[in-house]
Amino acid sequence: MILPVVAYGDPVLKKIAKEVTVEYPDFDKFISDMWETMYNAQGVGLAAPQVGRSIRVFLVDASPFAKDEDLSLEEQTILKSFKKTFINPNIIEESGEEWGFNEGCLSIPDVREDVYRKEFVTIEYYDENFEKHIETYGGLAARVIQHEYDHIEGILFTDKLSGLKKRIIKGKLTNISKGKVNCDYRMRFPLAKKGR
Ligand code: NI
Repeated sequence: MILPVVAYGDPVLKKIAKEVTVEYPDFDKFISDMWETMYNAQGVGLAAPQVGRSIRVFLVDASPFAKDEDLSLEEQTILKSFKKTFINPNIIEESGEEWGFNEGCLSIPDVREDVYRKEFVTIEYYDENFEKHIETYGGLAARVIQHEYDHIEGILFTDKLSGLKKRIIKGKLTNISKGKVNCDYRMRFPLAKKGR
């Protein structure tokens, strides 16, 4: 089932999400709904708060990036099969130089800005079978993890922009909250007038 994606301005996107337990009701169904929702919106990542659930879960499928021929063959190969469910993740370390990448977000359609993040990330998480992993990623794989991890910490990529950039896009963000945006997947807008 495709779930509506929560738009910028909804308080659920600003909350620090809570850990989940194996007893979480209909968890498998929720995860499969998240995959369906992410693919329907052509996203490479989706975090549970973006579908209105403040729990520490996100999904990543970075395979669309694997087609980027500017990347090394090694990175293309890693990205091609980089499809994972992260449950109760915890970033242990971020390292390397900060680099800029033009990010977007399914909750903020039509806005893309350069965001600076460290190159490597070491993350501890549970997979969909509640098995624990500790892994280190670099490049775009790290980038997607850092962006999605921020969602469960209540942080959006727009929070990381300069004051000037924030002022420039403020009107656009307000319009998104009101539902005044072109978007080809289902969304839920916090400031939309009733009856829309
Ligand atoms: Ni996002």
